[in-house]
Amino acid sequence: MKNSALVFSCTCALAYFVKTSPTFRSFLGLPATSETSSNLAVWNGKWSSNTTRWQREEIHHTLLKHYDAVLKGRGKILVPLCGKTVDLHWITGKGHETVGVEGILKAIVEFGAENADRISFDSQTDTGEYKPFFETFIGSDKSTSSSLKILHGDFFLLGSSISSTFDGVWDRASLVAIEPKMRPKYASTMGLTMAPGAVMLLSTFWREAGDPKALKDGPPYSVSEEDVKGMYEGLDWVESVELVETIDYVRDKRFEEDVKRWLNAGMTEFKELVFVIKKK
Ligand SMILES: C[S@@+](CC[C@H](N)C(=O)[O-])C[C@H]1O[C@@H](n2cnc3c(N)ncnc32)[C@H](O)[C@@H]1O
Repeated sequence: MKNSALVFSCTCALAYFVKTSPTFRSFLGLPATSETSSNLAVWNGKWSSNTTRWQREEIHHTLLKHYDAVLKGRGKILVPLCGKTVDLHWITGKGHETVGVEGILKAIVEFGAENADRISFDSQTDTGEYKPFFETFIGSDKSTSSSLKILHGDFFLLGSSISSTFDGVWDRASLVAIEPKMRPKYASTMGLTMAPGAVMLLSTFWREAGDPKALKDGPPYSVSEEDVKGMYEGLDWVESVELVETIDYVRDKRFEEDVKRWLNAGMTEFKELVFVIKKK
């Protein structure tokens, strides 16, 4: 491990223990950590036990394929429920002001340590314009100097914090990660935070056929074209919802490893669906 990564990891490990201590937080007058939010309990367990199978080492194929047509040239990009995705530094490296939102501190700390060669990263508890969040991790791309912020806290706080800020959104493994009953609130949060004329590139995973329990369980939850259209079409801020690509994993050689895992889990047909959602 390089020195900068080691120093970052040690600082963050110390910060992690201090910042998640209820006594210390109450001493500083900070709210309880997001790890105690009911929206995040299940994710705290996954990160604590390193059960993060959604994590990819490569930039996501859908982002690479649709970036030029959908997000290129747009200023500020939101990556909701960002985990420690490498897509964050790729988007920042393209010159965008990038903002990720992640509820579990361990994910952010690991992102900082694993990307220390590309992003210089620091944390601050004065969250400025993002007031309800517990802290903001502020970084910048070492080659382009573009800024990357990761907000630590529950995504559903975002709508009460800022409005009409983001010119683009990259949603992968985010909508599918939230409980289906939270979808209306998720959509309204997106509507509040997207700027007029903004676009969202959305990738969902649709488990089309298989064992009924496996189809229903989550996270990740299965999200079909009807689900996305039911969620977004008809909202007063939405101009259009377009399905731009369907990837049939079972018949696509690129996904052989994913297919084995999903077949083992009882699914027989599953597709990635890619949407472009435009705000008026
Ligand atoms: C399935 S992972 C996907 C991460 C990332 N989008 C990616 O593609 O690798 C979902 C992430 O969202 C975080 N998360 C879940 N619910 C959240 C919430 N309400 N607010 C903030 N983060 C949340 C989890 O901790 C987890 O890191």
